[in-house]
Amino acid sequence: MNSVMVTGAAGMIGSHLIDRLLADGVVVHGLDVVPLERANNLREARSHANFHYIQGDIRDKATIERFFRPEASTLYHLASVVGVRHYMEDPLSLIDIAIIGTRNFIALCEKHDVRILFTSTSEVYGRNPVVPWKETDDRVLGATSVDRWSYATSKALIEHMLFGVYRKSGMPMSIVRFFNVYGPRQNPIYVVSQSIYRALRNEAPEIYDGGRQTRCFTYVGDVVDGVIRAATNANAVGEVFNLGNPAEVTIAEVVDMCLRHSASSLTATAIETGKKYGAVYEDIERRVPDVSKARERLGWQATTEVETGIAQTVAWARANPWYLA
Ligand SMILES: NC(=O)c1ccc[n+]([C@@H]2O[C@H](COP(=O)([O-])OP(=O)(O)OC[C@H]3O[C@@H](n4cnc5c(N)ncnc54)[C@H](O)[C@@H]3O)[C@@H](O)[C@H]2O)c1
Repeated sequence: MNSVMVTGAAGMIGSHLIDRLLADGVVVHGLDVVPLERANNLREARSHANFHYIQGDIRDKATIERFFRPEASTLYHLASVVGVRHYMEDPLSLIDIAIIGTRNFIALCEKHDVRILFTSTSEVYGRNPVVPWKETDDRVLGATSVDRWSYATSKALIEHMLFGVYRKSGMPMSIVRFFNVYGPRQNPIYVVSQSIYRALRNEAPEIYDGGRQTRCFTYVGDVVDGVIRAATNANAVGEVFNLGNPAEVTIAEVVDMCLRHSASSLTATAIETGKKYGAVYEDIERRVPDVSKARERLGWQATTEVETGIAQTVAWARANPWYLA
């Protein structure tokens, strides 16, 4: 039976990936810092006979060695500090987790010839003003005194590590760069999840800096499909792929959709990030993927329209009271 490892197993994308792999008959070994009994996102997976879990920190070498399965075909490496607020609070931990954790996994994967799928981010393009972004486009980042760039920099450094080891030893690896993933189970600190969470609790959502920035919101189900294709397709070895829905919407529009689908008559509260975060913050005006490479090589494209994905996320939140508690 095929077996795989998934780090960041208790997270939004990790848990959806695990549900899909289990449904496909794969044996899954998950790792996350969250204790299994507190991992609400794994409510369905945790009673599955093919699911195994270890709680631990990827910075800890002994944990990684205990977790690692040399017989596994693939390591899906998703564990990461995620969310602007978190990396603004503690860039040092973010970088430690990214670099130390991944370095340890690379050594084991190289030794046992296990393929790595690494989840990177559209943030690596920084504020490159020329959209849509192709995988080979420039990274345009701000000053190192601006904490926001620590996340993009740490993900890009891991990409460099993976390309380096692939060229040196041929260790099979693939990288995906996500564009604003949303959907059921997401921590309510991002624009879609926060707006739905608040609207359903009768609290006003927040809009940063007028909401004129645009994003390409990508439904988690679409992303999981792209991740599996990138991890299993022979054409994807040694390659990086944008995984995003190219439909561009403003933040104000998406908050409005969340309010509408939640049947809420509230209005969003305006937040000025300059006042909230100070000079260590900087926003990105537009973030749009060119997805032709994923379409051509993986036969992948996002198929869930934002309105549909938001409606599904609202329906899921209503049906899962623990999420709104
Ligand atoms: N959601 C998005 O829009 C998005 C966009 C770009 C990239 N990504 C990447 O996708 C991956 C999954 O993101 P997500 O949205 O599911 O986020 P998430 O926060 O829901 O999941 C991340 C998981 O990693 C775990 N984790 C953090 N530090 C850890 C550590 N030291 N050891 C073990 N586990 C640790 C967390 O507990 C969490 O369960 C991440 O690598 C993220 O950087 C996500």
